[in-house]
Amino acid sequence: MPHPSSDIAVDHGKLRILFATSECAPLAKTGGLGDVSAALPAALKQFGADVRILLPGYRSVLAQLPDCREIAHVPGSPVFPPARLLQGETPSGVPLYVLVCPPLYDRGGGPYQDESGSDWPDNAQRFGLLSQVAALLGSAGSPLEWRPGVVHCNDWQTGLAPIYLRYAEGARAATLQTIHNLAFQGIFEPELVAALGLPPESFTPEGVEYYGKLSFLKSGLQCADAITTVSPHYALEIQSEPLGFGLQGLLSARRDSLYGILNGIDTSLWNPASDPSIACRYDAGTLDAKDANKRELQRRLGLAPSPSVPLLAVVSRLASQKGLDWLLEIAPQVLALPAQLAILGSGEAQLESGFRALALSHPGQASVTVGFDESLAHLIEAGADAFLMPSRFEPCGMNQMYSQRYGTPPIARATGGLADTVVDCNPATLADGSASGFLFHEESAQALLATVGRAATTWRDKAKWRMLQRNGMARDFGWEASALRYAAIYARLAMKL
Ligand code: ADP
Ligand code: GLC
Repeated sequence: MPHPSSDIAVDHGKLRILFATSECAPLAKTGGLGDVSAALPAALKQFGADVRILLPGYRSVLAQLPDCREIAHVPGSPVFPPARLLQGETPSGVPLYVLVCPPLYDRGGGPYQDESGSDWPDNAQRFGLLSQVAALLGSAGSPLEWRPGVVHCNDWQTGLAPIYLRYAEGARAATLQTIHNLAFQGIFEPELVAALGLPPESFTPEGVEYYGKLSFLKSGLQCADAITTVSPHYALEIQSEPLGFGLQGLLSARRDSLYGILNGIDTSLWNPASDPSIACRYDAGTLDAKDANKRELQRRLGLAPSPSVPLLAVVSRLASQKGLDWLLEIAPQVLALPAQLAILGSGEAQLESGFRALALSHPGQASVTVGFDESLAHLIEAGADAFLMPSRFEPCGMNQMYSQRYGTPPIARATGGLADTVVDCNPATLADGSASGFLFHEESAQALLATVGRAATTWRDKAKWRMLQRNGMARDFGWEASALRYAAIYARLAMKL
């Protein structure tokens, strides 16, 4: 795989990047994309790069940004309603362009789905407009004076920007397409090609066409000047079946322009020494204080206040990607170890009801909180003994890094970014000081159960457990190294223009 940072001196002050995204925490977040879209631009800004974020003006975003000022009008077209651009700032001071278009974004529910969990029927238009405006800002026709050298697209929601730029007149920005999750591709009926203002000739395998349908992500991967994904391991996995999700041929054909760059974490937001959401702050030298967080977590969740039973936790979308059906299957055996389980998440109805039933049948031992609760997520990282991520696939994963930083060793399947960030505990890794969690390979509930058993046994050996905790807490998961790699790619792309 190519290494972007090898041979080029980057003048970060000259980089001008438009970071186009459908999420940006804390303004809009359904998962890790929200975290990355906040923290990567902030890290790039620290190097002096001129990075600006483009985000849809969902109702909830506008409610959090009362002081934005209007800077441009985007005229309507036969296919899109007129829109406006507001300028604001993220909490970490990164300039933010908010795309306001009430018919498409002013509604309740979430960024992609309504309150009942169904996809919005007009998602193609909603994210077609986002892609089109990203392209507009990167082209000579932009209503703004500021021009980016690179438009950085994230996931399918901004995947059409490169093809819109292909048809733009005059000077244009280079494009980078990042894959956060190949399972979501933005596939729609071919009739939408015209409805999105794309010419009929774009509907070919070199453009938006994908097995007779229109695919936002495929188009981005085909047309962008370079591609990144969020861990080195996943960059390899997606070049073949099954994790290529049908795009393995395209991705392996473009492997010279495909980079795997590990996500970082926001180490100030996720810091047990200063976290305002936890009961008692601590660091690697004061790990005993973690007990107070466990007590508070047990109290909040109605679990038995027992210090002598390991408390295992999940904070996750409840989706088949996350392998939580395996956890549900073996939960009675896990609880019988004994252990306690704390689940925070929402998503697929079957998993929600399965975990609800588990909590009902095991009061004081298992708890489920269905919903999205940022502050409870922090307390769980601090109060749990170990963190579960048995993912079937995981492009990067953020929680295994948060949990290591909180002295809460992850129990994870060795896939994607989990394989890149968790070091399995065994005699060799304990001896060399790298062990930081527990990994299993086989895709099965039994393999998960065996690994949970191994973790529970290790937990009873307090000296060994402390070593694991301290190893994880000493790891550097900050953004600096990865942001430098993105900067090197931007510089190379902008140079080619
Ligand atoms: P993904 O993006 O696939 O959902 P990641 O591990 O990359 O998975 O990121 C998930 C992010 O969303 C983390 O910051 C995690 O804490 C957060 N998260 C997921 N579910 C919840 C929830 N129910 N409540 C609070 N935070 C959540
Ligand atoms: C996706 C992936 C997750 C990754 C996140 C941020 O949602 O599922 O593994 O950490 O994007 O890149």
